Amino acid sequence: MIPHPPITARYASSAEKPAFVRQLFDDGAKYYDAVVDWGFFHSGAFYRRWTQKRHGLKPGMQLLDVACGTGLMAVAAAQILGSAENITCLDPSEGMLAVARTKLAARFVQGRAEALPFADGAFDFLTMGFALRHVASLEETFSEFRRVLRPGGKLLVLEVTKPSGRLGAFLFRLYFGRIYPFLTRLFTRSRDAATMMTYFWETMDVCVPPQSVLEALRAAGFVQVAREPLLGLFSEYIAVKA
Ligand SMILES: C[S@@+](CC[C@H](N)C(=O)[O-])C[C@H]1O[C@@H](n2cnc3c(N)ncnc32)[C@H](O)[C@@H]1O
Repeated sequence: MIPHPPITARYASSAEKPAFVRQLFDDGAKYYDAVVDWGFFHSGAFYRRWTQKRHGLKPGMQLLDVACGTGLMAVAAAQILGSAENITCLDPSEGMLAVARTKLAARFVQGRAEALPFADGAFDFLTMGFALRHVASLEETFSEFRRVLRPGGKLLVLEVTKPSGRLGAFLFRLYFGRIYPFLTRLFTRSRDAATMMTYFWETMDVCVPPQSVLEALRAAGFVQVAREPLLGLFSEYIAVKA
């Protein structure tokens, strides 16, 4: 299952998506932190730390942060773990990884969620923050997540989800589809940064519903699969490897 149909205004077919997404984040990397910081009203650092702690990340655990980007999830995790020595960060974008490397002394690996270059059962906890829409296949991704977790290991996937109610969906479209890309362009004066935020909206708008994500997690063999929604906007998907 693909997380969303091809965005044909950007690339012709799903086969071209990985190259487009990689270039998108390479080009937008230097703007990413500032743009998501004000775009989410400075809540990101607190939210990423709070949610990882609430879902059971503890000192001593081996953590894999898939789609680490500029390291926002990993920096928050390091505060919980006490250091970055047990954190592995993976991302396909060298531009995003270059920013992340300046922030913490974790292990950084260039790669994709659908083909993780790690041994079976290597991690206690696996996170993915705001990147599920960018993978090529939910099946391949979740099967890889399950493979690299140890038995009893936990998965936490964070996403922004379009609200189901009419008013919520209208406000969501207004903010993420119009206001956020417009202000991004205004403040950064960068077409690349604005394109990155417009693409966020385009993929959120047509993303598969939470039920499909939960079904894909169960089909991959995870147990205790659940979604905890927050403010009608954020989805926290949790699952355990039996
Ligand atoms: C919106 S950023 C999220 C970064 C970070 N996790 C955070 O919480 O801010 C999405 C990230 O997903 C990465 N990405 C795109 N396709 C991916 C894939 N197939 N596998 C792993 N990461 C991918 C991008 O390079 C980008 O760094």
